[in-house]
Amino acid sequence: KRILILNGPNLNLLGTREKSIYGGETLADIEALCRTRCEALDLACDFRQSNHEGELVDWIQSARKTADGIVINPAAYSHTSVAIHDALRAAEKPVIEVHLSNIHQREPFRHHSYVSSVATGVICGLGPKGYTMALEAIADILN
Ligand code: DQA
Repeated sequence: KRILILNGPNLNLLGTREKSIYGGETLADIEALCRTRCEALDLACDFRQSNHEGELVDWIQSARKTADGIVINPAAYSHTSVAIHDALRAAEKPVIEVHLSNIHQREPFRHHSYVSSVATGVICGLGPKGYTMALEAIADILN
């Protein structure tokens, strides 16, 4: 089975950006964690990041044919993007939404996510571990 792991805007800056909120690990560190966990779970891993909403939509659309499940940290687009919501709904795959920080503890504008209503499950506040937990969950759902 093939999992698409998507990361939204500014996550390329992890490790240098607001470390007190997002921690010191880089996106490359998180990718390495995901690759190791995917191997253990016998999942093929496609790990990507984009700062562009349309590019994320294109990738979600192509997942209709090329992936069995999606793990997504939509970052700021969680709180704004009807387009990503619609693309995920159309994908008709298990989707786990991940946030490094606990968005409910932060500014009110982060409390609502357009992605949550189309996600199978949501993990937030557990840092990079959230990604590996999401992979475990998807593996379970697909088995
Ligand atoms: C985030 C939370 C979002 O509110 C924020 O815009 C991000 C990262 C997280 O992983 O905690 O860029 O998705």
